[in-house]
Amino acid sequence: MPERVLVITGTSSGIGLATAVAVARHGFVTVATMRDPSRAGRLLEAAGAAGVTVDIRQLDVTDAASVSSCIDGVVADHGRIDAVVNNAGAGHLGTIETESVDDVRRVMEVNFFGVVAVTKAAMPHLRASGGRLVTVSSVGGAIGQPFNEAYCAAKFAVEGFMESLVPVAATVGVTVVVIEPGAVASDFVANVDVDPAVVASG
Ligand SMILES: NC(=O)c1ccc[n+]([C@@H]2O[C@H](COP(=O)([O-])OP(=O)(O)OC[C@H]3O[C@@H](n4cnc5c(N)ncnc54)[C@H](OP(=O)(O)O)[C@@H]3O)[C@@H](O)[C@H]2O)c1
Repeated sequence: MPERVLVITGTSSGIGLATAVAVARHGFVTVATMRDPSRAGRLLEAAGAAGVTVDIRQLDVTDAASVSSCIDGVVADHGRIDAVVNNAGAGHLGTIETESVDDVRRVMEVNFFGVVAVTKAAMPHLRASGGRLVTVSSVGGAIGQPFNEAYCAAKFAVEGFMESLVPVAATVGVTVVVIEPGAVASDFVANVDVDPAVVASG
């Protein structure tokens, strides 16, 4: 059996960091990507404590060149990709009367188009391996939440995209999975991009 290779996005903290260590412990060659590899300290520490190694690479899900060069590099160096975890994402609090369409577009770029870009780059390799595509959505991808319009819209978009891809991907042997976490104690809340007008209005 060749070694199984898994690529995950957004591993500098939180769910991505914990998942990278967990899959490495399960024997995957784990390619742990992050937009700024200088932030790899916590992951390296956790991997060391668990007695595993991870291959850290740069990948910004909003940068098409970064996505394709990372995925191409993984295949060049490891020969295959058996699983991809679309984990990278960022919260945003705001409401449409106080923010611009561009604010909403930025939330979509990270949480939806980032997933689309990584999926597009990965699909030929998952097809070749009969692999698995896992995407971290949110309970906010199933239920709309006040002051969470843009983020929930992006996660709803992810869900529609992946639900539609399931039967198509199945015809070429690729399994598509979506995970909808509730609240998880990560850096997520600290990293939420907050519209100051929402805070000011109480
Ligand atoms: N925590 C929760 O309660 C919760 C609930 C439901 C769903 N989720 C989802 O779970 C996933 C992981 O979130 P988390 O809770 O682990 O939060 P987190 O600790 O803030 O982690 C988010 C990760 O995404 C990365 N990221 C942000 N923008 C990126 C970009 N453009 N390219 C690549 N990576 C980027 C962050 O990197 P930087 O360090 O560079 O910012 C960080 O590593 C997200 O998709 C989130 O929507 C979280």
